[in-house]
Amino acid sequence: MNDRVLVAYATKHGATAEIAEKIGQALREAGLPTDVLPFSRSGDLTPYKAVVLGSAVYIGQWRKEAVAFLKANEKALAGRPMWLFSTGPTGKGEAKELTKGWRFPRALQPIADRIQSRDIALFHGALDRKTLSQVEKWMIKKVKAPLGDFRDWEAVSTWAKVIADTLKKEAASIK
Ligand SMILES: Cc1cc2nc3c(=O)[nH]c(=O)nc-3n(C[C@H](O)[C@H](O)[C@H](O)COP(=O)(O)O)c2cc1C
Repeated sequence: MNDRVLVAYATKHGATAEIAEKIGQALREAGLPTDVLPFSRSGDLTPYKAVVLGSAVYIGQWRKEAVAFLKANEKALAGRPMWLFSTGPTGKGEAKELTKGWRFPRALQPIADRIQSRDIALFHGALDRKTLSQVEKWMIKKVKAPLGDFRDWEAVSTWAKVIADTLKKEAASIK
């Protein structure tokens, strides 16, 4: 195992991919070599000392490739520091207030607990009318989700910096 960090993500319309890239950028700026990859290209965890996993949220669920990755790699993930994030709510105000306290699929909480995830963040997402299917447009109209890009880049960077600080401190303490 070397000192690389993996940021793996699941996206449908691209908003989560850009959040993952932002996290990767902050980790690299903090001096941690980092790969940012979709789950479809994240296989062997051997090269990674820590992982950050995130997914877009659709109807209260993580995307299926993210769920499959968590389940398939539980053992390898349990041996590494792991952080999780969901990308979802649109609109002004605290992300967790917009989701009434929700931040992560309930069905996945037991696996996150077993792996002992360090933190689970919830970030604002983006809804671009041009990229949505007819069904998606109908669904978001029904739940009155505001259209627009509500991603909070500062919140994303701040969260990533805490991860970098934690990893660097832990690395220093075992030297
Ligand atoms: C059909 C549909 C259902 C959604 N359901 C949820 C939801 O249950 N909770 C939530 O917080 N956001 C929900 N969203 C918002 C998306 O999570 C948000 O647009 C996110 O940024 C999408 O990320 P992506 O571009 O990476 O796919 C939904 C969006 C659509 C289009």
